Amino acid sequence: MISSASDLREAAVLVRKNAYAPYSNFKVGAAMRAKSGKIYVGANVENASYPVGTCAEEAALAAMIAAGETEVIEAYVIADCSEPLPPCGACRQRLKEFGKDQVIVWMGTTDGQEEATTIGDLLPGAFDPAHMARSQYMSSSL
Ligand code: THU
Repeated sequence: MISSASDLREAAVLVRKNAYAPYSNFKVGAAMRAKSGKIYVGANVENASYPVGTCAEEAALAAMIAAGETEVIEAYVIADCSEPLPPCGACRQRLKEFGKDQVIVWMGTTDGQEEATTIGDLLPGAFDPAHMARSQYMSSSL
């Protein structure tokens, strides 16, 4: 069985400790290895107004973009759950925006379980800019 590179897992484990999740008590950590090789991390941040919350993957991708990078080559998501945590639907679309379909997404648990999937397997049939080809927004006549 293959396992993840320990640096990516460790980064996700560490950042998870800083998650702010007083409402769900469900802390999530995420680490993104960008094309440069650098690792960007994020944790979930909740809010008394529940819809305002940020997912760990969202935070890690935002940190990567803020640092001037646009491509993920490997991702790790970790939480304290009975089986490896698959990213939520919105975060699958977020990963798709910045990573190729074959990019590995590791899903880990704090008790040491680990599974690998890919962005393409997590989100077959993703919404894509090509779907907007006939929209006014994409029209060159505007
Ligand atoms: N959460 C994430 O950070 N990533 C996921 O992929 C799933 C859910 C967070 C959002 C919220 O703070 C908590 O987990 C419970 O949904």
